[in-house]
Amino acid sequence: MMNIIRRQFCAGLGAVALPLRASASTQTIRAQKATVQLAPEGYPATEVWSYDGTLPGPLIRVRQGQRLTRQLVNDLDVPTSIHWHGIRIDNAMDGVSGLTQDPAAAGETFDYDFVVPDAGTYWYHAHKNSMEQVGRGLSGVLIVDEPTPPDVDRDEVLMLDDWLLDPDTGGFVEPFDHPMMMSHGGRTGNLVGVNGRYDFTMSAITGERLRLRLINAANARIFGLRLEGMKAWTVALDGMPLDRPEALSEDIILAPAQRIDLIVDITASEGEPAGILMAMNDNSWQALADMTVAGSQSPRADAPAPLPANPNTALPDLATARRFDLVMEGGAMAGMESAVYNGQTLDFRALIDQGQFWALSGQAGLSETPFASLARGEVARVALTNRTAFPHAIHLHGMHFRQVSADGSLGPLRDTILSYPDEPLEIAFTADNPGKWLFHCHMLAHAASGMNTWIEVT
Ligand code: C2O
Ligand code: CU
Repeated sequence: MMNIIRRQFCAGLGAVALPLRASASTQTIRAQKATVQLAPEGYPATEVWSYDGTLPGPLIRVRQGQRLTRQLVNDLDVPTSIHWHGIRIDNAMDGVSGLTQDPAAAGETFDYDFVVPDAGTYWYHAHKNSMEQVGRGLSGVLIVDEPTPPDVDRDEVLMLDDWLLDPDTGGFVEPFDHPMMMSHGGRTGNLVGVNGRYDFTMSAITGERLRLRLINAANARIFGLRLEGMKAWTVALDGMPLDRPEALSEDIILAPAQRIDLIVDITASEGEPAGILMAMNDNSWQALADMTVAGSQSPRADAPAPLPANPNTALPDLATARRFDLVMEGGAMAGMESAVYNGQTLDFRALIDQGQFWALSGQAGLSETPFASLARGEVARVALTNRTAFPHAIHLHGMHFRQVSADGSLGPLRDTILSYPDEPLEIAFTADNPGKWLFHCHMLAHAASGMNTWIEVT
């Protein structure tokens, strides 16, 4: 209400008094407070930080190879920036406050303007104090369409998220930088939902073929998912198409920031249970996205065709690769001896006093020099060693990587990979995108308290 009154008042003063932020042709995306009914009816509404007043933010959809321009207008009281997660983007547009740009201060703007090289399922989110800003709602979906989309009846986006709310006030539980959350698994919500709704449902027709794009936008929750009433194929991971669709035979593990594109044929008949279930802590399964099946059509006879490959996705040549070690340390129950923070070697106690619970290869937080400095075109092979008691979702900006199996074979392209305690993991990528790229844990409380480094491609 306050906002509306202020705008009307300003309008009355005429154009001179209005700060002209954007010309009519510029598309804006506004970081602003909004009040949203997140919790079930009967609970108070929640004041969120949103893009354009909705949660999730507006769905942005462009064709592959097109230019995307958005002017971020910061109507919040704090500085912010937008990261376009998974886009192999021009470094200056990557949106990392403090590394690739200065954030837009309160009341200021920042112009994003880039070409999207790859088709697929992506998302965008705040990248300044992300633990709090993403936790308060600053995220949205970015879909890049193939020139010829696959043969499906419908294309549905499901953004999975959770929120940690105080049921008495409807507000977010504070503080966001609670030491207990930072030192353990991160901030997990007490309310889980899809596309901003705890009671998300969709309809379906028996025999229908759907593309389901699942995005994990949660701060720290690892989703265990099971499909009911449908036959499914995985066609893409983290936006990038698989060489061929893989029939889904197991439950899906979706770590924070990961995406999976499925093509599903609805096999449930009218009235039969269908939808997506999520694993609960007690090993039971609970509905996350219910489908109401009504009507029927004749199913397709063939399995889905592969999605068209994205450009520049040749396998990296491991023979020439330079090797690096990323060692995760710290946190509750494992701790660490010491790490470098702000140029000083500190023991675990002293690190905790500085709010640093984690380290990557002996360094807590961003160092002056990069974790790895690579010449453009060089192949990097990074061994991930998890010496902590928690899983971590390790994300590389600007380039996708592949998992290297023990036998040297390469997995599908990904931008985020889940590392479990004491399970060695190795990734490889061709450093073909110049710039400064963040390399961090996407459990956002971990990134905020040490698990954050960067690589440079020159
Ligand atoms: Cu989803 Cu550093 O980003
Ligand atoms: Cu982590």
